[in-house]
Amino acid sequence: MAKLLIKNGRVVDPASNLDGQRDVLIVDGKIKTIKSQVMSRGARVIEAKGMLVLPGLIDMHAHLRDPGRPDKETIASGTRAAAMGGFTTICCMANTEPPIDNAAVVKYVKNKAEIEGVVNVLPIAAVTKGLKGEALAEMGMMLKEGAVAFSDDGQPIMRADVMRRALEYARQFKVPIISHCEDKALSHGGSMNESALSTALGLPGIPALAEENMVARDIALAREFGRLHIAHVSSAKSVDLIRQAKKKKIDVTCETCPHYFSLTEEAVKGYDTNAKVNPPLKSRTDVKAIIKGLKDGTIDVIATDHAPHNIEEKELEFNSAAFGLVGLETALALVITYLVDTKELTLKKAIEKLTTSPAKILGLNKGALKIGADADLVIVDPKAGWTVDPSQFASKSKNSPFNGWKLKGKVLCTIVSGKVVVRDGKVCS
Ligand code: DOR
Repeated sequence: MAKLLIKNGRVVDPASNLDGQRDVLIVDGKIKTIKSQVMSRGARVIEAKGMLVLPGLIDMHAHLRDPGRPDKETIASGTRAAAMGGFTTICCMANTEPPIDNAAVVKYVKNKAEIEGVVNVLPIAAVTKGLKGEALAEMGMMLKEGAVAFSDDGQPIMRADVMRRALEYARQFKVPIISHCEDKALSHGGSMNESALSTALGLPGIPALAEENMVARDIALAREFGRLHIAHVSSAKSVDLIRQAKKKKIDVTCETCPHYFSLTEEAVKGYDTNAKVNPPLKSRTDVKAIIKGLKDGTIDVIATDHAPHNIEEKELEFNSAAFGLVGLETALALVITYLVDTKELTLKKAIEKLTTSPAKILGLNKGALKIGADADLVIVDPKAGWTVDPSQFASKSKNSPFNGWKLKGKVLCTIVSGKVVVRDGKVCS
C-alpha cells in the first residue's frame, strides 16, 4: 500500500468550505483521511507547516499544440508546465494541426496524454469541422471518446445558425459550447485594443465591441437554445452583459484569464509581442470591471488560455506576430499577488474559480478534497516571492509578458492521483 501523509498544512477546500490546519492521508492514489491529526505507520511524510494545501487546480482552457506543433509545445512539455503551475487537470483546445474535430484525434490526444502526460488531460473538441464555422463536427462521437466540451476557440463561429445548432446539439449531452467571442468583421486586421494608445503606437486596433457584440449574440442564442460558456472575457461591457444574462437565469457561465486582471494595454507600449493576445489587453477601467466580475460571481472561472508560440512567430513586427501568451506557470502566483494579497478575493473564492467552478461547468468529479477521490493536490508557499524567468519554464515556449516580474506564491509540490510530479518546485524525473 502506498501511503503519503501531508502534515500540518493550511488546507483550503472550497467544495467543503474548509480552511484550517489539517493532515491529509493519501492511500493508493486516493484521499483517505483529512483530520487535525493523522498518524499512519509506514507513510511517506511531507511536512507542510505554513504552506497551503489545495485541491489540484483545473485549467479549462489551454493550448497544448499536439498534434501538429511540437516546436511550440507537446503534451509532455505542456503537462509539465501545468504541474509546475499547480494544475493537475487541464483541458486542451481543439485548434491543433489537424484540429481535434473527429473521434480519432480525441483518441490520439487521450492516448498521448496517458503515455507522456504528467497531469490529467481532457480534450475540448471542435464545434465545427476544420474549425471553419460551417458544418458541425462529429460531436457525439467525440464525447464518447472522452471530449468534455466543445469549442472552436481561436476562431469565432460567425454564423448564428451554426452556433444555434451547436447549442441545441450539445444541450442533449448536457455539455456547454465554449465560445470565443469575436466579431471578425470588427476585429479583422487589428492587433491590439483600439484606443488612443493604438493610434499613438500606429497599430491597427480591435474595438472592445468585437468581443461584446458576440457576447450579446451568444447570450441571445443561449437564452433560446442551450448552455453557453464564454471564454477569455476581457471587457467591462462583456462583464455587464453576462451579469444581466445571469440575472435573467440564462444558462451562461464565463472565464477570464490572469492577464486580463494583471495587465492593461500599456503592456504593448514597447511593442512587446508577448503582450499581443486575442482578445487584446484592455484599459484600466476594463481591468477593474473584470475584478468586480470576479468578486460578485459574474465571472465563474479563472483559466490560463496558455497559448505557446515560438520565437519565429513572436520575434516579428507587432502586426505580424502571433496572438497568445503562455500562462500555466504564472497563473496561480498572479492570482495570489493581484487578487488575494490585494484582498479583492478571499483565498477560498480565488481557489474556487480554479477548482470547483470549472469542475462544475464541465461535470468533472475533480477539484475537491473529498474522501475517496483521486488524490490531486498542490502544496503552495503563499509567502514565497519569486521572479518570473521564462528561460526556466517547463513549457517549450517562452512568450510571457511577465518576464522579470516579482510575484508571490510558489508551487512546491504537485500530486496527481497520489503521485508526486513536482517536488521542491521542480518536475520529478
Ligand atoms: O491569443 C490567443 N491565442 N487567443 C486565442 O483565442 C487563441 C490562442 C492561440 O491558439 O494561440
